[in-house]
Amino acid sequence: MKRRSREMPGGGPRPAGARRRRGSAEERTSAFTSVDALLGRVHLGDNLDLMRRLPDGCCQLVYADPPFASGRARVGRDANGATMRFSDGFPGGTPGWITFLKPRLIEMRRLLSPDGSLYLHLDPRVAAYARVELDRIFGEENFLNEIVWCYRTGSRPGRHFPRKHDTILLYAQQRGKQVFNVVRDGEYRTQGLRRDGNGRPFKRTRRGPLYFHADGPALTDVWDVPFLSTVSAERTGYPTQKPLRLLELMIRTSTNRGAVVADFFCGSGTTLAAAQRLGRRWIGCDVCEAAVAVARRRLALGSEPDPPGPNDPPVGLGDRTAPMSQGAWAGDGL
Ligand SMILES: C[S@@+](CC[C@H](N)C(=O)[O-])C[C@H]1O[C@@H](n2cnc3c(N)ncnc32)[C@H](O)[C@@H]1O
Repeated sequence: MKRRSREMPGGGPRPAGARRRRGSAEERTSAFTSVDALLGRVHLGDNLDLMRRLPDGCCQLVYADPPFASGRARVGRDANGATMRFSDGFPGGTPGWITFLKPRLIEMRRLLSPDGSLYLHLDPRVAAYARVELDRIFGEENFLNEIVWCYRTGSRPGRHFPRKHDTILLYAQQRGKQVFNVVRDGEYRTQGLRRDGNGRPFKRTRRGPLYFHADGPALTDVWDVPFLSTVSAERTGYPTQKPLRLLELMIRTSTNRGAVVADFFCGSGTTLAAAQRLGRRWIGCDVCEAAVAVARRRLALGSEPDPPGPNDPPVGLGDRTAPMSQGAWAGDGL
């Protein structure tokens, strides 16, 4: 009997759970062969519809910050004081949430280039369930890190330790091929160390003085990034908005200038704003009209990209897009 090939179009073997896309004839004819025409836009609609129309391997980084199935209604206010809300509840609780997430994770893997990475942002309650699914979809060998984003927000003493971190699961499309730029962040603990004649702290070792890297320590899997304060200039009023700094760490680590960064649960557009600032190209999507309006406003106000750093490769090096696009996405773009 002839065995079916398990090769994935983006490269690498097809992990269990990652079925070949079927889709209706209509869906297939409205597929794009390139993301070019969709870049720099915030699309309104269900992300599964959009992702299914995008070509294999077109993104170098996908960040996903989906609803967590906490059952809580998320409410915020925009600049004009209008209420913005989205529901974080799922029929069927956690199993219902996994049912929702799974086909989207499969699409995200398909959309990643062989040097691409997925960052899935969750809370510690649901992270374990998603990790099992991701191991099936990406392959256990492609798991890179469980990043702990810790923050210090106010808390009331209760019957368990205050929960002060989120969990971000990082997977490579193909381990070993992923872009991984070492980012240096924070400061060394140099208290009590000797200093040389120039005031530089050093450790004494048998082989002589050991100096610290001038740009600070390499970022580890524990990220101490302040939560957005209620008075932060970054605040859009959208509930669950994440700090730009958090996204900048991911984008700087896992992409080069000119690469395509995607956020299909983009909310207020934090990922897209960070990508724009760092000279990356981007595509965003959200099903909520208020979110899309906030993100579009934020990006229209946007800033010029920061100038390239000394280690940045030329723009375009991370570009894995295919030739010009065809077809039309039914959703609404910026
Ligand atoms: C946790 S929020 C993202 C917040 C975002 N990271 C930010 O910094 O503003 C999750 C978003 O997912 C959106 N969402 C939920 N289901 C979706 C779907 N099927 N397609 C697209 N977006 C969806 C919600 O409307 C919400 O804006």
